Amino acid sequence: MSTVPVHLTVNGQHHELEVEPRLLLVHLLRDNLGLTGTHVGCDTTNCGACTVHLEGEAVKSCTVLAVQADGAEVKTIEGMADGEKLHPLQEAFWNDHGLQCGYCTPGMIMAAADLLARNPNPTEQDVRHGLEGNLCRCTGYHNIVKAVLDAARMTEGGRIDVSPPSSEGVEAGEAVATEIKP
Ligand code: FES
Ligand code: FES
Repeated sequence: MSTVPVHLTVNGQHHELEVEPRLLLVHLLRDNLGLTGTHVGCDTTNCGACTVHLEGEAVKSCTVLAVQADGAEVKTIEGMADGEKLHPLQEAFWNDHGLQCGYCTPGMIMAAADLLARNPNPTEQDVRHGLEGNLCRCTGYHNIVKAVLDAARMTEGGRIDVSPPSSEGVEAGEAVATEIKP
């Protein structure tokens, strides 16, 4: 099958690839770039495990063609930490036991970061509503919601940074993504 060129920036690093036009963004991230912190739970837009930021907004990367991300900034769970320093959401999920098997966690954190960027001081209902597109089969959601609320309190003024990361965050972010796997 013929390929098309795609160039995009992922977690602050520029990439130029040749991909099949049908390739999904989630598979570009996982298979071409090795960023396996972004999970595939359903492939049908239901679970949210594949959530990443595209141009600063949370998207389900199983519903985006890689060619649609041409020229875009993408952020994945591997880009959330700042070097050795965890992102406040990662810290809060860790502290509040906001995960069990961890499969949904990268997508939850990426969706929550987008939520807090738009609404820095959410209510519990805001968080539950904001994470409706992300499914968790393990936790019952209580500690996930608590973690997001605590992350909002943890940050000065309740603001979560969703700006493109520096490449320094990649290593530590990958470590966290690895740790939260079963
Ligand atoms: Fe994308 Fe489930 S894998 S929504
Ligand atoms: Fe959410 Fe297992 S699916 S922690």
